[in-house]
Amino acid sequence: MKKTIFLLTFSLFSLILHAGEGMWLPVLLQQLNEKEMRAMGMRITADDIYSINHSSLKDAVVLFGGGCTGEIVSGQGLLLTNHHCGYGNIQRHSSLEHDYLTDGFWAQSLAEELPNPGLSVTFLVRMEDVTAVTLKNVTSRMSETQRDSVIVANNKLIVNEAIKGTHYKASVRPFFAGNQYYLLVTETFTDIRLVGAPPSNIGKFGGDTDNWMWPRHTGDFSVFRIYADKNNNPADYSKDNIPYTPKKYLNISLKGVNEGDFTFVYGYPGTTQEYLPAVAVDMVANHKNPIAIGLRQQRLDIIDQAMEQDRLVRIQYSAKAAGIANFWKKMIGESRGIKRLDAIDIKRGFEKDFSQWVAADPNREAAYGNLLPAYNKVYSDFIPKNDAYTYLTEGPLSIEILRYAYSFNKLVQQSSEKTISDSAVNALSKQLLAGVDGYFKNYDKTVDRKIFAAIMNTYCENASPDYMPAIYRELKANYKGDYEKWADEVFNKTLFASAESTKAFLEKYSRKDAKKILKDPAFQLAAATYAYLQQNLSKDIARFYDVTDSLQRIYMKAQTEFRPKKQFYPDANSTLRIAYGQVKGYEPADAIDYNWFATLDGIMQKENPDIYDYVVDPRLKELYRTKNYGPYCDRDGTMHVTFIATNHTTGGNSGSPVLDADGNLVGINFDRCWEGTMSDLMYDPDQCRNISLDIRYCLFVIDKVAGARRLVDEMNLIQ
Ligand code: ARG
Ligand code: ASP
Repeated sequence: MKKTIFLLTFSLFSLILHAGEGMWLPVLLQQLNEKEMRAMGMRITADDIYSINHSSLKDAVVLFGGGCTGEIVSGQGLLLTNHHCGYGNIQRHSSLEHDYLTDGFWAQSLAEELPNPGLSVTFLVRMEDVTAVTLKNVTSRMSETQRDSVIVANNKLIVNEAIKGTHYKASVRPFFAGNQYYLLVTETFTDIRLVGAPPSNIGKFGGDTDNWMWPRHTGDFSVFRIYADKNNNPADYSKDNIPYTPKKYLNISLKGVNEGDFTFVYGYPGTTQEYLPAVAVDMVANHKNPIAIGLRQQRLDIIDQAMEQDRLVRIQYSAKAAGIANFWKKMIGESRGIKRLDAIDIKRGFEKDFSQWVAADPNREAAYGNLLPAYNKVYSDFIPKNDAYTYLTEGPLSIEILRYAYSFNKLVQQSSEKTISDSAVNALSKQLLAGVDGYFKNYDKTVDRKIFAAIMNTYCENASPDYMPAIYRELKANYKGDYEKWADEVFNKTLFASAESTKAFLEKYSRKDAKKILKDPAFQLAAATYAYLQQNLSKDIARFYDVTDSLQRIYMKAQTEFRPKKQFYPDANSTLRIAYGQVKGYEPADAIDYNWFATLDGIMQKENPDIYDYVVDPRLKELYRTKNYGPYCDRDGTMHVTFIATNHTTGGNSGSPVLDADGNLVGINFDRCWEGTMSDLMYDPDQCRNISLDIRYCLFVIDKVAGARRLVDEMNLIQ
């Protein structure tokens, strides 16, 4: 008896010890996770989280835009996501006259909510394992191409069947590197309006300085609303559309969380690669990341300095800079985390054990004996090519003038194509003309010229000449390494560095003018670079992925056979997942012990009126002074702003609802702690933490700072 109790507590203990890692499929929750989730404190059931028979929490979670998550919080389609997820749209509504990015925006009524062309929100209707149907007629002797074509044909039938007679969309996606396939049926809404956004000094407080870091004080949320037609169906924007009535919306808890509490994150994680071999992790951490980090650093230094000096440049470049900086910093954290965790050695150790297991059985030897040697060979051949690719894409092809010049390539092609009529060519040039102002609204020639000189210098002096388009070698020699001179000549000669010259050119365009584009120095560089990519590197890259995709599929299967007792979760692939864990602090370094929550006091401590990222909103300051926190205050008397937990999240999980043991909304996920950003490649329970906005701070800002009480009144708050 004693022994069983011991065993029982031991196994429970070891279960909980591992909890945190994993992004689980909602359909398999009951089978794989419910027991553990309940042991950790969850009071709802797997069926409350995902069900196709009745509405469940999944009906309140959406894919927001291309790469974020959002959640529905009212019966009128009100939606919460991150400020950084709404950023592009908030920016597009901003100008020097009404700078919503800096000052915030709050619609006072439905009529004032702003439409966002191009923005959509997608619900998951249902998902289903269709592996057997997808792989019908696939044999192990097929080449990858044959295999793919059979799969594509099978999936087409599955998809057509699934959406017949509905306005739904469907797709079949691979999981476990192509060992399993799921059908996903979705519903997309396209009239999504901006309802509110806090000023940047709240929504982006701490800016790129604090990004990816703890302790954190960013009020990273924005508010949108889904609109539908009169029948509650998706429809493109129309002023006659009405707020969408959702199947489900989240209740919001004002109780907060405590250390050790169970939480889960429900959302759309983008990409993880947890089951790669050591060589692959080495390529990311020690090749790709360092090259990209260096090149991004140069662009950022130039942009940051210009934004510091000029308000207009700040508006024009804030979204761009945020994007560049975000991955720059992520990569730094990731490479450090890999090193600190000894992830490559851990993988090598695993591969040693795996190889012994393979060698111990002739059948296994036949199936898997060549796997790791093949991997090593493919990667060592590929690394110099991938370096070259990273140099080009993060270097020259990140320069705005090159990208913009190349957007005229289609015009060049059509102009010289005899089968295309003059009027078609004219229509295209008019279309390009119509886009000119939009592009130049966010363009600064001085910034771009500086970036050109700096990036060309680094690229030409450091990238391997073996994989460099000839034009760079020639121009480098012509200019004798004088990159400033090179930049001056390009920017003096090009048509595409100002709205005036671009417009003047397009207004009078006729097909013989294609010659002028072909002679343009920015276009020439861009065209030569893209041609090189297409004719050389792309083939190598495609071949590499062909080989490694099939190796990874076999390796994935082999790993599950090697560790039959382990519960595997599929890598993230922008499909709906659940991560669960506990609210918990961590020790990032010797002698430092991080608390699990951060408060408004910390905002005041970080305040610095001279530094853009640390300006504190005057209204916030006043509320802090008078401690006017209303019902949003924590039991401890402070205003909690953020908290961290062991939920395994990644890019795409931004904006995801963070739910408590009862399935009530307690936070909005927005980031991870820097020491744990290698969780995309290897999760470390000691260091990996997701960062959530405390939902009470979000409501406090809406209600007390913005005075948008009408929105809080729509929500269902639980005291
Ligand atoms: N690091 C977070 C994520 O990957 C937030 C990024 C936006 N914030 C910023 N300061 N750039 O998306
Ligand atoms: N900030 C990320 C996002 O935008 C989340 C993360 O990478 O942890 O999705």
